[in-house]
Amino acid sequence: MSSGYDPTTKTLSEIPAETATEIGLLFAAQRNQFDQDVSERCTDFFALEGLRVNWTGRKSGVLSRIGDNWLKPAKKELKPLVGQAVNELKAHIEQSLEERRSLLEKDFTTRGALLERVDLSLPGVIRPIGSRHLLRQVMEEIEDIFLSIGFSIVEGPEIETPYYNFEALNIPEHHPVRDDMDTFYIELPKGSPGQLLLRTHTSPMQIRTMEQRKPPVRVIVPGKVYRRDNPDATHSFAFHQVEGLAVDTDITFCDFTGTIEYFVKEFFGPTVTTRFRPSYFPFTEPSVEFDVSCIFCGGSGTAAGGGTCGKCKGAGWIELFGAGMVDPAVYGFVGYDAKKVNGFAFGMGIDRLAMLRYGIDDLQVFFQNDVRFLRQFP
Ligand code: PHE
Repeated sequence: MSSGYDPTTKTLSEIPAETATEIGLLFAAQRNQFDQDVSERCTDFFALEGLRVNWTGRKSGVLSRIGDNWLKPAKKELKPLVGQAVNELKAHIEQSLEERRSLLEKDFTTRGALLERVDLSLPGVIRPIGSRHLLRQVMEEIEDIFLSIGFSIVEGPEIETPYYNFEALNIPEHHPVRDDMDTFYIELPKGSPGQLLLRTHTSPMQIRTMEQRKPPVRVIVPGKVYRRDNPDATHSFAFHQVEGLAVDTDITFCDFTGTIEYFVKEFFGPTVTTRFRPSYFPFTEPSVEFDVSCIFCGGSGTAAGGGTCGKCKGAGWIELFGAGMVDPAVYGFVGYDAKKVNGFAFGMGIDRLAMLRYGIDDLQVFFQNDVRFLRQFP
């Protein structure tokens, strides 16, 4: 409807329109306006409903206004004339709206049928097939190596209790090593019993596994872990570890180093060598840090073109992961007899192993999902 002057808001004497001709013209103009609205705007059911309300709505429709402003206050001698014109306009509007409705309905049904028609001769949509993420590939490779020497795979929750993530691993509250693992605690509703956190390592699964199984235990635990680290070339708030745990009645330090060495040679190739250095973890005793001879310079510390090897910074060794013999105190938390059993545990970063193996120098590429990177590892 056009904006601006609207004669239906005025009475016939205000307009003024007092002769049959003038009144006829007024009604004709309304009818034209309606026809124009229908042909220009009535393209769907919403528009149709809008028009219906606009013209025949009881409260503020055009017809109601015409009834209130033109018919009711009309002079006595004009009333029959105006009354008849109102009836005609009303009939016209109602009929047009009805016609429009059935047209739209027909259109809707045919269009629906067209859309649903299946043309079996059309070529199908070919979606590019993705590949396993490099981290997944590396994870599976690590799993295969350990499966081949009698380990099985277990997985555990990424949301943990402080008991499994710390206490049962011999890390009591206020123990300084908790500071090394800037932890994400989960905001719980007030009054919730206890705390929950995103696990900072896969070690809680050592406890959960020993709680459920009697020795001998030989498991690895691949999975995501979380720490409040700022992202840079070697840090991310989420990364991946594989935990290992072997507990039996006769496991020695030699079994431990032999297993690790076997894994490293399988993973990096037969020419690499390993060494371990003393380290500290509350849940292993003694604890060690395993190094592997630098895969880039062959352990010489010198880069291929001369000068210091940038990867191991001339040391000839690259730090790989933490490990050790299970601390007897841990057995106390899971009901194992510390006098009868012994074992070893290790925790390695999958992301780091993948970076070393494939010469990737930025950890972030694993998480950016850029196909130009991913595609290089089909
Ligand atoms: N959980 C330790 C870490 O994330 C690694 C580790 C695992 C050390 C098992 C010893 C034994 O740093």
